Amino acid sequence: MPATWTPQAWRALPIKQQPTYDDPAHLARVEAELAGYPPLVFAGEARRLKAHLARVAEGKAFLLQGGDCAESFAEFSPNNIRDTFRVLLQMAVVLTYGAGMPVVKVGRMAGQFAKPRSEDFENRDGVALPSYRGDMVNGIEFDAAARKPDPDRLIRVYNQSAATLNLLRAFAQGGFADLNLVHKWNLAFVGGSEQAERYRATAERISDALDFMAACGVNSETAPQLRQTDFFTSHEALLLGYEQSLTRVDSTSGDWYACSAHMLWIGDRTRQLDGAHVQFMSGIANPIGVKAGPSMDPDELLRLIDALNPANEPGRLTVIVRMGADKVADKLPALVRKVEGEGRKVVWSCDPMHGNTMKTETGYKTRSVDRVLAEVRNFFAVHQAEGSHAGGVHFEMTGQDVTECVGGLRAIDQYGLADRYHTHCDPRLNAEQSLELAFQIADALRRERLGLPQAPAAAAGAAR
Ligand code: PEP
Ligand code: CO
Repeated sequence: MPATWTPQAWRALPIKQQPTYDDPAHLARVEAELAGYPPLVFAGEARRLKAHLARVAEGKAFLLQGGDCAESFAEFSPNNIRDTFRVLLQMAVVLTYGAGMPVVKVGRMAGQFAKPRSEDFENRDGVALPSYRGDMVNGIEFDAAARKPDPDRLIRVYNQSAATLNLLRAFAQGGFADLNLVHKWNLAFVGGSEQAERYRATAERISDALDFMAACGVNSETAPQLRQTDFFTSHEALLLGYEQSLTRVDSTSGDWYACSAHMLWIGDRTRQLDGAHVQFMSGIANPIGVKAGPSMDPDELLRLIDALNPANEPGRLTVIVRMGADKVADKLPALVRKVEGEGRKVVWSCDPMHGNTMKTETGYKTRSVDRVLAEVRNFFAVHQAEGSHAGGVHFEMTGQDVTECVGGLRAIDQYGLADRYHTHCDPRLNAEQSLELAFQIADALRRERLGLPQAPAAAAGAAR
């Protein structure tokens, strides 16, 4: 932590992507109220995640970070939470089994409610209203009342996050995640698809292994690792007033922790070295991430790393690379060479979503699954060439049967998007598309571990 750091010091610095509230006193009252609420996570949990991520930085584990682009009040339901959690579990099983590597599971859940936007205003038919910035700020409906930023939404976000986290903890530790239930995590609507069959085959082999272990006396009773799992939460730290209110001194270490989630990240639009977000994040002891888009240059990244992780602590910092499928092979090598060459210890994670967003002729914001998969492949190929570890993926998904991304094995075309397009912000992979991604990553990780060449992205695209 820099010597001059305090939880409120960011307020004196330039800041981007913030809503304009009509009544700052109302906002201040809400923030003061939140400051009196219990923390959502315990600092010890954030330290545990950091230790897991240190293993990722060493090349001995893999980070799986996913969930909604934007959580919403409307989609808040136990079934949604359960279904997202179970697809993440399925993906983790595919990776752990297929790649033979421990997987660190982190949800974009229980706090992912605020969005940076490219325009401050949205125009429709000659009417301009403030852009929707996530349910944490304003409403998605295109009317003046809904679009007015409302500080009381911060309290609702806190409450929804607390309830979501409570259910996630129950699922992770209360028996739902027991490996003996590996067959039951398959979602009904995915049934019969090629991905579901592949998953079923993996689950079969895991069940056989568990039967063998049980015969040897190792079961869910004797080995708690089989019965429960570690699951962590994360979101973009965009609204720093909210984050400050939930930042507390940990009595066991004396350090400051952001207690709104285990891990926070800085978005690609708010990562200015002299800006408020970097300053705030430099002082919390949680594991943190920073996005790196195509405009990131190697020296700038090095300076950011030194601002955010001056002690070069492994597990502290994850660089989330989001270049776009066609740019990653061009842009990433120089970043990796610089950072690794200077001996900085980071987790390299691939966000194959945010550089691959496009508009269809029919007016939908979408992403092609082929391009998402191609970015991941190219990411692995770059790391193989540079001798570094492709440490993780960061992606937007849901456990629901949505039609938001085009392509995938059950090809959705631009006309099919209208069927079930529900996202509050960016298009998400559905359960089946997420599993397709997991199988591809498992293959790439296995190749990395065995020193086999990565399958080239172009050939993979052509085969589809
Ligand atoms: C996001 O992760 O939802 C996001 C806005 O990403 P980025 O900051 O990389 O654009
Ligand atoms: Co997004």
